[in-house]
Amino acid sequence: MEKQIKAMREKIEAAAAAITDSKEMYQLRKQYLDNKAGQISALMKNMRDLAPEERPAFGKIVNELKTWALDFFTAQDARLKAAELAKKNAAEQIDVTMPAPANRCGALHPNTLIANELIDIFAGMGFTIFEGPEIENDYYNFTALNTPKDHPARDMQDTFYVSPELLLRTQTSAGQIRVMENAKPPIKILSPGKVFRSDDDATHSPMFSQMEGLVVDKGITLCDLQGMLDVFAQNVFGKDVRTRLRPSYFPFTEPSVEVDVSCFECGGKGCRLCKDTGWIEVLGAGMVNRKVLENCGIDPDVYTGFAFGMGIERIAMLKYGIPNIKMLFESDVRVLSQFHE
Ligand code: PHE
Repeated sequence: MEKQIKAMREKIEAAAAAITDSKEMYQLRKQYLDNKAGQISALMKNMRDLAPEERPAFGKIVNELKTWALDFFTAQDARLKAAELAKKNAAEQIDVTMPAPANRCGALHPNTLIANELIDIFAGMGFTIFEGPEIENDYYNFTALNTPKDHPARDMQDTFYVSPELLLRTQTSAGQIRVMENAKPPIKILSPGKVFRSDDDATHSPMFSQMEGLVVDKGITLCDLQGMLDVFAQNVFGKDVRTRLRPSYFPFTEPSVEVDVSCFECGGKGCRLCKDTGWIEVLGAGMVNRKVLENCGIDPDVYTGFAFGMGIERIAMLKYGIPNIKMLFESDVRVLSQFHE
């Protein structure tokens, strides 16, 4: 009998040694200690097969086994649960010194950065903003700007026509007419917006952005234009930059000029950026043509004015060293994430 008890104890110990999970240990405990189906309870039932004088001794050793088993399983349970808790704590451990993952944050597009910068500069000189429509009448885009239907200068801008009379504006200069038709001098406006031309290569895109400036008042001269452009160029490209006016042609200005800035890369000595000339062309400008003022009901013998128009993408490409205009339209975050205010 004692042998049987000893064997059961060894069996319990061996089974427990192979268990690493507290739930399995509980199942093992039930196998032996369950009140009804447990193997130790079953031993008690054997009592009735014994002679009455053997029963007390048998009862005693079975009870001892039961007490031992209860203690044994309580200890096993505590051991496994402690191990499980330690494992869980280790897995959930938080390293409070670990840096937080970087927050990916959007930023303004280089075109928007340049447009905002230009608006700031010219607003500081008293300009207000006018925005005209992107689909324009032929009249505002060309005819009123002294470029009638048969004018050869129309060839300078390959135009997307929507109908014989409507087109996608090729220049923000169309806004000059809309402003001058409705306001009397003094006029001082800046007109940013998208323009469209059938033109497509590394430095031209069928859609791009321009910024137009128009000043009309008594006694406005080309010197006023250059003075304001000096302020613009020095703010955008650096305080040592100078401007230069070269004769050019636009139907709506007379005289017309092409405006260069001294090369901000080499200081004017000559480099790759300025193609060894020391100068970089940045915009077109001129004195508003008398005919344009007349078209808008402004007396050219009383008032004079200047206008200028620049490409935003061109300024962005020069300022940020962007080699291809397409990079400004592809929305590649690897490119865009390099620009900050
Ligand atoms: N509209 C001209 C262009 O797109 C630029 C310009 C504007 C020239 C104003 C003179 C005056 O090329």
